[in-house]
Amino acid sequence: MSFEHALNMFDLERMAKRRLPWGVFGFIAGGAQDNRSRDNNRAVFERIRFKPRGLVDIAERGQEITLFGHRFSSPFGIAPMGIAGIAHFEADIAMARAAARMNVPFVLSNMSTVPMEVVARSCDSVKWLQVYMPADRERAGRFANRASAAGFQALVVTIDVPVGANRENNLRTGFTLPLQLSARVIADGLLHPRWLVGVLARTLATTGVPRLENSAAHDRPSILAAQNAELRSDGATIDWAFMRWLRDQWRLPLLIKGVLHQADAREALACGLDGIIVSNHGGRQLDSAAAPMEVLPEIVAAAGSRLTVLTDGGFRRGGDILKGIALGARLALCGRPFLFGAAVGGEAGVVHALQLLKAEVDRDLAMLGTTDVTRLGPTDLFLD
Ligand SMILES: Cc1cc2nc3c(=O)[nH]c(=O)nc-3n(C[C@H](O)[C@H](O)[C@H](O)COP(=O)(O)O)c2cc1C
Repeated sequence: MSFEHALNMFDLERMAKRRLPWGVFGFIAGGAQDNRSRDNNRAVFERIRFKPRGLVDIAERGQEITLFGHRFSSPFGIAPMGIAGIAHFEADIAMARAAARMNVPFVLSNMSTVPMEVVARSCDSVKWLQVYMPADRERAGRFANRASAAGFQALVVTIDVPVGANRENNLRTGFTLPLQLSARVIADGLLHPRWLVGVLARTLATTGVPRLENSAAHDRPSILAAQNAELRSDGATIDWAFMRWLRDQWRLPLLIKGVLHQADAREALACGLDGIIVSNHGGRQLDSAAAPMEVLPEIVAAAGSRLTVLTDGGFRRGGDILKGIALGARLALCGRPFLFGAAVGGEAGVVHALQLLKAEVDRDLAMLGTTDVTRLGPTDLFLD
């Protein structure tokens, strides 16, 4: 079935499950350990319901938002996802272009396999860059200079990966970094011929064995050699003093991603950062970490008006995004659905996913009796 038949994000996931090798699908869909945080990210939306208003003229309604001086068409965007190229050939470019077409933010992961300069050149739009910073300031400074020269408008430092997570599903399917071509991994690929030809063979034929082209800690390690945990932090972890230093190096918008505690919002404010992303990494890091939606109100309160609060984790419906905004986030990022969209339809598949979400936001806004997405607030919600 073609991606155009997908009616929602869940349909895209089902389609991608058929197309992708089990190891690749499991890597994307899975969380850490028992998937408690991943599943709870979805479950919290069940406990939050709307209190719609009636008799409001909703003929003219808008979902645009302004962030860091740019007017975006919708209050959602594409979350950073490392090694996205395993789901679709150069998926980073497909997602960047789709985001550009829909005028929503795209965050490139620095664990990507396409050089950041190539992604930046692939479309003329707002692009942000997420990074796992090494503690080594010389390397970190070089990375920031490179990102700025490439034209990235915001830097997002992920703070919830001080060590690699325990992702048992990846161990079971044999999908681990460095990638080992075991009999199981090879059989998995052979049983998914469209992926084998369209993604693996095409990648090997055009760019060779994928390399983490934008690693900040190492120089272009191959995914056959890269040590997952070391790649990110290089053994030593960054701290608030590092963030204060980085603030001086990077004058454009600077955000941290992976905040779940109000005290960290206060630290971010004290460091002069521009924004925070309330996130549990899609349930892929600390299992049993709170869902972003559970802690959003207290973090928004701590952040005050100087810090822009974004969020991600389990947003699958336009209504989910509106709930996040009503609790004080300015924008919600979505991860997996867009990578599944890329897996089954490339750039057009990602555009399809973005259009579905946009239509859902618009319809729900109308039924909520709200003409402007930025007017939503906690009083529009009923919390169990
Ligand atoms: C396949 C995959 C790779 C990811 N890679 C990164 C990454 O490189 N850096 C990062 O900060 N977050 C990464 N994340 C987390 C996402 O940015 C985001 O926090 C999460 O996917 C949001 O949850 P959702 O997928 O339920 O929408 C990744 C998530 C997935 C699914």
